[in-house]
Formats: sequence, C-alpha cells, structure tokens
Amino acid sequence: MHISDRPIILLGCGRLGSALLEGWLASRAVDPARLIVLTPSAKPAAEAARERGARINPSTEVLGEAATLVLAVKPGLWREASGPVVSALAVDATVVSLMAGVRAHSLSAVFGTRPIARVMPTTAVAQGRGVAAIWSDEEGARTVAHALFDPVADTVDLAEESLIDAATAVAGSAPAFIHAYVEALARAGQAAGLDAEAAGRLARGALRSAGAGAETGAPLSDLIARIASPGGTTEAGLKAQAAAGLDAVAMAAVQAAVARAGELGS
Ligand SMILES: NC(=O)c1ccc[n+]([C@@H]2O[C@H](COP(=O)([O-])OP(=O)(O)OC[C@H]3O[C@@H](n4cnc5c(N)ncnc54)[C@H](OP(=O)(O)O)[C@@H]3O)[C@@H](O)[C@H]2O)c1
Repeated sequence: MHISDRPIILLGCGRLGSALLEGWLASRAVDPARLIVLTPSAKPAAEAARERGARINPSTEVLGEAATLVLAVKPGLWREASGPVVSALAVDATVVSLMAGVRAHSLSAVFGTRPIARVMPTTAVAQGRGVAAIWSDEEGARTVAHALFDPVADTVDLAEESLIDAATAVAGSAPAFIHAYVEALARAGQAAGLDAEAAGRLARGALRSAGAGAETGAPLSDLIARIASPGGTTEAGLKAQAAAGLDAVAMAAVQAAVARAGELGS
C-alpha cells in the first residue's frame, strides 16, 4: 500500500483531537476512510468521521497498517495510552506528537527508530484557520506533518526542538491569553458604565475586528496605526496600556507557559 493510502491513527479525540478531525473532514484534506480514531469515550467529531468511513477503536491488527500515528492525548497519559498501539505499529510509521512538553528523545524511548515530528497547533484547525509550529530533524517526518497540517493551518517550521515550548506559548496557549484579555476589556467596559451584555458583545466584536485585520496579513504595527489617529482615544488607551505593563503581562504569560512545558516534559 502506498504511504498516502495507508491509515492515520489519531490517538485521543479531546479538544485538540476533535478540532483536528473536524478540520480534516471539512477541508477534505484527509480521506475519512484512512482515519482510525482511538478514543475511550464517544465524541461527536469521531462519530461524524465514522459516518464518513473512519474506523473508531478497531481491532489492534488494523493498527499495523498505519503509516502515521498522531498523538493527541495529555502529556501525563501518553505512555499508558501508547502502550497498546506501539506493539502493533509498523516500524516505518511516523509519530506526530501534538503534546506540549514531551521531548522527541522521550518519544523515541517508546517508539524506537520510528521517525518523530512534533507539531504545536491551535484548535482553530477545526475551521481550517489554525496556526501550527512544526519541528522534526527528519525530512520525511516533517513532510508528513506538513501534509497533515498545511490544509488546516498556517504552518511555521522551527529549526530547533527547544523552540517548541516558546511556540506553544505564543501560538497554542496565546488564543486563551487573548480571550482572557478580551474578557478583561469587557469588565473594563462594565466599569466604564456598559451593561454586562453590551460590554461582552462589544469586546467580542472587537476581537473579531482585530482578527479580520490580522487575516489581511498587514503588519500589526500598520493595523494599530490605522486605528490610532494621533492625539485620539486609541492612542491614549495604547499609552496607558503600555505604561500599565502590557509587555510585562505578555512576558509573564509566555515565560510561565514555557516553564510549565519544561515541567511537563518527561
Ligand atoms: N487544546 C489545545 O488547544 C492544545 C493546543 C496544542 C497542543 N495541545 C496538546 O494536545 C494534547 C491534548 O490536549 P487536549 O486539550 O485536546 O486535551 P483533552 O481535551 O483532555 O483530550 C485528551 C483526550 O485524550 C483521551 N484519552 C485519554 N486516555 C486515552 C487513551 N488511553 N487512548 C486514547 N485516548 C485517550 C481523552 O479521552 P476521554 O475524553 O474519553 O477521557 C481525551 O478526550 C495535549 O498533549 C496538549 O498538550 C492542546
């Protein structure tokens, strides 16, 4: 069987695994008949894939056909979850880990000489609009990772594995940082007199507007300059936000996420 026809195993169908499955199905990037999903509990995304031909929790022998194993379980659970798969997995199968913090050398200790790629995506892969950092020191494994993620994300190659933790913070975790900031904006709007519903809708609309600007690909400094006319309200807000320590807030969030990735690594 040609590598492009061989099955892809998705181990774990939680928030990220489901998002990826939805993105693959919507973009038609992966033939559902090639998908094998291993999940302890039923998931809507897995059921949708099953209706289109994917196999959910098939017998272990089937796993031996796969050319690719995508690891989307929690970092603390991967050894236990991989146990039943590794014994059945072909020796040439590529292992694509989406897990924060788990190093390639730890993966190799379990998966042996199988090629390893690490990918750090965002859950917007579900809408085909994610971003994904990719690292591998093997060209073939990098190619496999690109084939899986190029259709659903803006993919960024990293030169060193050690940069994955920074990419995790700046891409994987950062959408949550930004949502938390938008919630803080809504609270500030309430403090300025808006009711909760109006503040929430306006802040969310601001996030959508910022996202639409970012989607144009224009430099962020240009997007800021377009809104902040000299001497205007936006400029006043930007100055106050910088003086209150915006850079320190972003630095603290990224450094804490990088440090936590180091702790999760095993
Ligand atoms: N969420 C993100 O935005 C994001 C971004 C980048 C990277 N990641 C990485 O992606 C991984 C998954 O994160 P997540 O947020 O998707 O976590 P999650 O929602 O908790 O999903 C993990 C899934 O693993 C499943 N699982 C547990 N034991 C299993 C086993 N033995 N075999 C197969 N599946 C098993 C769980 O199934 P049950 O639900 O049935 O218990 C759960 O659905 C993590 O390593 C994380 O670092 C996540």
